Amino acid sequence: MRIDIITVLPELLESPFNASILKRAVEKGLVEVQVHNLRDYTDNRYKQVDDYQFGGGAGMVLMIEPIDKCISRLKGERSYDEIIYMTPDGATLNQKMANQLSMSGNLIILCGHYKGVDQRVRDSLITREISIGDYVLSGGELGAAVLCDAIIRLLPGVLNDETSALTDTFQDNLLAPPVYTRPREYKGLKVPEILLGGDLPNIEKWREEQALSRTRKLRPDLLE
Ligand code: ADE
Repeated sequence: MRIDIITVLPELLESPFNASILKRAVEKGLVEVQVHNLRDYTDNRYKQVDDYQFGGGAGMVLMIEPIDKCISRLKGERSYDEIIYMTPDGATLNQKMANQLSMSGNLIILCGHYKGVDQRVRDSLITREISIGDYVLSGGELGAAVLCDAIIRLLPGVLNDETSALTDTFQDNLLAPPVYTRPREYKGLKVPEILLGGDLPNIEKWREEQALSRTRKLRPDLLE
């Protein structure tokens, strides 16, 4: 898989891909992530990529020309399954969307900034708009990092058996069961007896029951 991220703040996207699971996925060649600085796609001598909005109003708007130039260059090199715009107006990211997007070959993610992007970008260049939740961020970069993390960890070979995505919360619409590690007892707080005996079929049954009761209690909407 290849993910191209277009942004005016490339430095915000350095660390997410430079640690832990995402770093390993990149190093193993399971995903290629390229971050493009939108300012490299303007002929403007001040590298300006935003402007005031027509009709008046506060806030700068990202211009269509550099975005079109960047996307056109990328599309000239390979085809893309989706051209995603990160925006609070978009469909809220969930596990089902992450699962679906993880089966893509190539993705472009455009990060908005300031007051957003010229509507013509959204009308003519974007195939999908995604939000990471009902709150407004200063830009799409952190949302893009969240989206990439949710997608990349699902790629075959990224997680090993121990960290398998199959047992994640939200797979099967259930929250994950509780987990414990050593010590067996801490300040009187004990690990459930069932987990200590090595009776694997009964442990599995207990985990399923816990997942179900936890979901009923914390996120009944998932069971509807
Ligand atoms: N940009 C600003 N707010 C956002 C959000 N909630 N999700 C995705 N991109 C955003």
